[in-house]
Amino acid sequence: MKSVRSITELREQIQELKSSSHKKTVGLVPTMGYLHQGHASLIRAAKEKSDIVVVSIFVNPIQFGPKEDFETYPRDEKRDLAAAEEAGADLVFLPSVDTMYPKPTKTKIAVAEVTTGLCGASRPGHFDGVTTVVSKLFNIVQPDYAFFGMKDAQQVAVIQQMVFDLNFNVKVVPCPIIREEDGLALSSRNVYLSPEERSQALVLSRSLRETKAAIENGEIRTAREARELLVNKISESEIAVIDYVEVASFPELLTLEDGQPIMEREEPVLMALAVKFGRTRLIDNCLLSPK
Ligand code: PAJ
Repeated sequence: MKSVRSITELREQIQELKSSSHKKTVGLVPTMGYLHQGHASLIRAAKEKSDIVVVSIFVNPIQFGPKEDFETYPRDEKRDLAAAEEAGADLVFLPSVDTMYPKPTKTKIAVAEVTTGLCGASRPGHFDGVTTVVSKLFNIVQPDYAFFGMKDAQQVAVIQQMVFDLNFNVKVVPCPIIREEDGLALSSRNVYLSPEERSQALVLSRSLRETKAAIENGEIRTAREARELLVNKISESEIAVIDYVEVASFPELLTLEDGQPIMEREEPVLMALAVKFGRTRLIDNCLLSPK
């Protein structure tokens, strides 16, 4: 595995890998580092589907709000390189902020509609930052496949919309959420949690799991009932502060009306949560597929 910091060097390395063998397809796994088994699962999926696996590690300043954690976002380059290699990466791209934004960008990519609800409502400008950096990475790497985790389901919907609208020649591959044994979805931000917050945060996956079961066994039927059950279950934790509890169509992300039945639909339904524990905001979700 090689790691490179410049765009020119990355392009040269990809060319070299492509021409030195019969290797052809390129899979890209964009990350912000502090890699965990969720990221590793994307790298392994990329390895399975593509000949050359490129992992980018870049904490993208323009997707953080002014009061968010850009400065304190956890970073550990040495450990990340070992984790990327172990999962099967061929090339790791570690650009500096100066490399990606030598001057403040005057061009931004903004996807409408799918960015307005959920995290888009609580984090203004966040998805413009994500789509801008991801389109830069797509142009730099020119991947055949790009791998994204369903942990960030709205991000998947937004990137898919961007790829469709702008004719990027890349196939977006959504990958399943990886969880700790006790259910907590892996996240680089979990390191912020105190032991008490960490144990209270289990209410996220538990409420999704139990609500899914209640829907599947017919105890509840409508979007309103699902939202109420989720809110009640999250409120079992005294320290949980709800940012949003959403039940929406996927990938359109249109809120289901109160009376709408969840299971009698053509399209999958996303139950998505954002909840704060102390200063840490966590997200989790569950996709319900139609019968
Ligand atoms: P980051 O939060 O580092 O996540 C990188 C990728 O890993 C995303 O596609 C995310 O959905 C996936 N991921 C994170 N936790 C996961 C889990 N528990 N299971 C499965 N996949 C998981 O998302 C970003 O970075 C950035 O917004 C980025 C796309 C890199 C643009 O800057």
